[in-house]
Amino acid sequence: MAQAPKTLHIKTFGCQMNAYDSSRMEEALGAHGYEPTDDMAKADLVILNTCHIREKAAEKVYSELGRLRELKQQRSSLGLDTKIAVAGCVAQAEGRAMLERASMVDLVIGPQSYHRLPDLLQRGATGERIVATDFPAEDKFLSLPERPIGRGQLSAFLTVQEGCDKFCSFCVVPYTRGAEYSRPAAAILAEAERLVASGARELTLLGQNVNAYRGAGPEGTDWSLAKLLRRLAAIPAIERLRYTTSHPRDMDDDLIALHGDEPKLMPYLHLPFQSGSDRILKAMNRKHTSDDYAELAVRIWAARPDIALSTDIIVGFPGETDADFEETLALVRSIGFARAFSFKYSARPGTPAASLPDQVPDRVARERLQGLQCLIEAQARAFDEATVGRRLEVLFERAGRKPGQIGGRSPYLQAVHGAGPEALIGQIVEVDIVSAGPNSLTGVIKSEFEWREPVQAAE
Ligand code: 5AD
Ligand code: SF4
Repeated sequence: MAQAPKTLHIKTFGCQMNAYDSSRMEEALGAHGYEPTDDMAKADLVILNTCHIREKAAEKVYSELGRLRELKQQRSSLGLDTKIAVAGCVAQAEGRAMLERASMVDLVIGPQSYHRLPDLLQRGATGERIVATDFPAEDKFLSLPERPIGRGQLSAFLTVQEGCDKFCSFCVVPYTRGAEYSRPAAAILAEAERLVASGARELTLLGQNVNAYRGAGPEGTDWSLAKLLRRLAAIPAIERLRYTTSHPRDMDDDLIALHGDEPKLMPYLHLPFQSGSDRILKAMNRKHTSDDYAELAVRIWAARPDIALSTDIIVGFPGETDADFEETLALVRSIGFARAFSFKYSARPGTPAASLPDQVPDRVARERLQGLQCLIEAQARAFDEATVGRRLEVLFERAGRKPGQIGGRSPYLQAVHGAGPEALIGQIVEVDIVSAGPNSLTGVIKSEFEWREPVQAAE
């Protein structure tokens, strides 16, 4: 008798790379009979794909595990077995300690071992509890099954690079994701073709330090990110390209020039600077100054003047004074960001900054964060309002919240909605932006074409 299919629920925390990893895990397990379910209570296997970047991440995972313990017990009273796996960066950081602290966990698996999931689950079927947090020599991407071709996302993520060698003194990534690794160009191109065959029109290349990409090229020399993007842009069905997250030090001339030359490369760039104070940047081991960043912005705008910049900023790094913080505000004011993500410094165990003297009192860091957020919200609003009255190309991706509406993204990654037929989903359409709300722009779809109800084919 055929075995009943198993059900799988993955809960994803954190960044886009985790979202990408979750979809790869789902596909890999799909090939072994696991079917995804949105309902955690119905899942035979629950995977928590965790993030360790900031505050209390591990605590959040432990409290989620507390809830899962109850679920496991309830299901067990119905005669159902539930396996619980913890993946992602908390798994990597905690390792065996997690099995000791959380008796309901069956498997702890680090981000470099996802290709081993089916085997490890099979091994765990006997009740063995397993930790897989080594950094294996083999390439997990090459060991994962090819992505299935099906109905996929119009806008898809594609991880091209993982890990980081920058060692910013506040950051856990070099420890949880390991050293920089770039996937070979041929593997990325093959995956891009499969995503396109599944319906993708926009690709976002992902990497913790994506513009440091140096992957083996098919002809034996390494490819840069610019070269990879240029090659991807030659695939006709790919209409838009993005990449994230970049380090200012790795924005080379070729990549900057590409923003001017390649219309498929969208004019939106996420470029974290973390602090506007050179003293703090040095303590952060960022390897750039505030002036370097401002000069880089000028070079980027020289290549393509309409590029919208977004950034990440940390306040309350150890030793940060009011004067240092003022320099951060000054840099934000002088650049002008379309979006900015700001965080209160959080001491991460094992990072150099965690043991620095002069940790900033929480109250001070909170106040600074509030002040900074006021400024960046005002800039974001100003940026959105400046698009009112403009005609922008929007890739429509989904039905809108209200009936008769559809929603998508502008080149600057703004959410846009407008009245229009669902038949436009999947197309890039010109839209006149008429107003800017807190979460999205409203537009009037410019139909140079005439839209008609699809005609039924004659029988
Ligand atoms: N504390 C606060 N923010 C952090 N980030 C990374 N590590 C920390 C930390 N220890 C922020 C940085 C980074 C973003 C992804 O998270 O701004 O760019
Ligand atoms: Fe972390 Fe980014 Fe610095 Fe790498 S470059 S250590 S990922 S903040």
